[in-house]
Amino acid sequence: MARCFVTRQLPGPALERLREAHQVDVWPERLPPSYDELRRRTADAEGLLSLLTDRVDARLIEACPRLRAISNYAVGFDNIDLPAAAARGIPVGNTPDVLTDATADLAFALLLAAARRLAPAAAAVRDGDWLTWEPGRHLGYDVHGATLGIIGAGRIGRAVARRAVGFAMTVLSSSRDGGTPLGELLERSDFVSIHCPLTPATHHLIDAAALARMRDTAILVNTARGPIVDQAALLEALRAGTIAGAALDVTEPEPLAPNDPLLRAPNLLVVPHIGSATHAARERMTELAVDNLLAGLAGLPMPHEVRAG
Ligand code: GLV
Ligand code: GLV
Repeated sequence: MARCFVTRQLPGPALERLREAHQVDVWPERLPPSYDELRRRTADAEGLLSLLTDRVDARLIEACPRLRAISNYAVGFDNIDLPAAAARGIPVGNTPDVLTDATADLAFALLLAAARRLAPAAAAVRDGDWLTWEPGRHLGYDVHGATLGIIGAGRIGRAVARRAVGFAMTVLSSSRDGGTPLGELLERSDFVSIHCPLTPATHHLIDAAALARMRDTAILVNTARGPIVDQAALLEALRAGTIAGAALDVTEPEPLAPNDPLLRAPNLLVVPHIGSATHAARERMTELAVDNLLAGLAGLPMPHEVRAG
């Protein structure tokens, strides 16, 4: 029996399997443990099941001498210092595949909502501003037949591309391994959707210069990680109308404070990092995160082990 710290309660029954095999401490609060609390609770743990809200850095890993396996409840792993884990021989697991389609669905939901101005149109109904059928009100942009630029050609990017086929869209895709050059993609796309991981190379990939290359009728969608977009530059572009809108599932920081200046930008839709938030996807993420941790603690290869680089 190994001691494990699980940093939040997780949907579905799979944590029971962890409890049958190990001594499990689950953080019971709605808000995540603070960094110090995380360190304290993990200090004598052999297994850590972390969330993307937990910063698992070199200092934390160093402070946990018995730690043998880290399982991150997310496909992204930018919250974990991989080299520090590797230096200690600690495997790190993530949860790809099981959330690919849910996240691609949300990217498309955001794209459609922004294009057709769903949020302001729904607000108008509640505000008593549905006076009649109006020829010139609530006008958005066609999705069908438009050009979609996908940044990052991994599992989620490819799943978004499959959905775009049903809308008769022209799909361009750009990744570090090739495809359409990013500048050309930005210039040609009516919708730009981000699906690359956050790394030093993609930090502020969408900066003022990138936004300036987009069309003034184009909409930016981000379901990947907030810091891939320079938010100050995005705010400027929305204010100036040099792009037509943005729909974000991820921001910097998270949560975004209700008084963050970004939220006063026009033509902006923000949802609170819900890409994988379906009952089925979140339960399958629990299954996989538990499988990864059980394997790591048993000294077996994790079903999904993260490889740096
Ligand atoms: C969510 O953002 C994830 O990385 O799974
Ligand atoms: C993540 O699952 C990706 O490869 O897009």
